[in-house]
Amino acid sequence: MRAGLKTNYLGISLQNPIVASASPLTGDLDTLCQLEQAGVAAAVLPSLFEEQISHDEQRIHAFYEYQSCTSAESLSYFPRLKDYNVGPHEYLRLLEAAKSTVSIPVIGSLNGSTPGGWARYAELIQEAGADAIELNIYFVATDPTMSSADVEQRYIDLVSTVRGAVRIPLAVKIGAQFSNLTNFVPRLVRAGANGVVLFNRFLEPDIDLEKLQITPQLVLSNRHELRLPLRWIAILRDQVSISLAATSGIHYPEDVIKLLLAGADVCMLTSTLLRHGAEYVSEMLNAIQNWLDAHEYASVEQLKGSMSYGNCPDSGNLERANYMKAIVSYTAAH
Ligand SMILES: Cc1cc2nc3c(=O)[nH]c(=O)nc-3n(C[C@H](O)[C@H](O)[C@H](O)COP(=O)(O)O)c2cc1C
Repeated sequence: MRAGLKTNYLGISLQNPIVASASPLTGDLDTLCQLEQAGVAAAVLPSLFEEQISHDEQRIHAFYEYQSCTSAESLSYFPRLKDYNVGPHEYLRLLEAAKSTVSIPVIGSLNGSTPGGWARYAELIQEAGADAIELNIYFVATDPTMSSADVEQRYIDLVSTVRGAVRIPLAVKIGAQFSNLTNFVPRLVRAGANGVVLFNRFLEPDIDLEKLQITPQLVLSNRHELRLPLRWIAILRDQVSISLAATSGIHYPEDVIKLLLAGADVCMLTSTLLRHGAEYVSEMLNAIQNWLDAHEYASVEQLKGSMSYGNCPDSGNLERANYMKAIVSYTAAH
């Protein structure tokens, strides 16, 4: 008998652990259908941004200046961005259309950073039929009077506000730059999060040397980036009982298997789908299935977390990663 691929995310039973994360791919009904056909178990719609709500109809397409950072062939996988994220009303219509077009769970996404009225849109997302909400808190602190505790409290307040507005499951997508995630994530849980998505990739600006301008270019991820969610999912798995989703740098089936071993409930993909197309999901699922069968796992559930911090004999490697030894062996080998 073949290994079962089912998993549970935010209390929702999913056919397998591969989820399409928020991107233009999930914001286009044709690509959303292709993703479903290829086997993704759920999809997160592109975010409704705080800026869009505050300045209804504001066009933010320039935010995603992706052209210069992807190869020519991968561009063919981009759906047209003409209608991508143009305003709250269109967003709710997209959500309703997605729900009536595909049968996989559809997660709505809210993206913002300030406490404020925009969070009430969570309720509208719920009413539009979303199976869950992903709250992407994207905050870059630049005010020197703001302490780390203030920054964390801002996240907690936002989560509480959204939790107060909706009944459906709530996942919080955060960046990795916190002093102690093992303290912070349980606080997010107490504020009402049912899951965390680790980790958001902040837009790192560049400088255009000819125009002498800061250029906010979105660069697709590379595979090494998965090491960060891998470490923190392994550490958090035994400390919290909520859902853990991995995002950033998951490009190949082996990456999914590693993150499941660390303790992820689902793995979310964007860059690899933009590079290889929606159909790559079925290839990944086949390879994951074959690996589980070859290694005599009965199911994804059995695999999940079996190499978490608590289950690893060499768990210290998850902390300082045997830093000194790694440096010495690198020097010796080169
Ligand atoms: C073109 C593009 C658009 C994205 N749009 C959103 C978005 O609207 N909301 C969000 O939370 N994340 C967004 N993301 C981030 C992805 O959901 C994902 O977390 C990130 O790309 C890391 O995963 P990856 O390594 O598989 O690309 C976007 C990423 C890309 C490349």
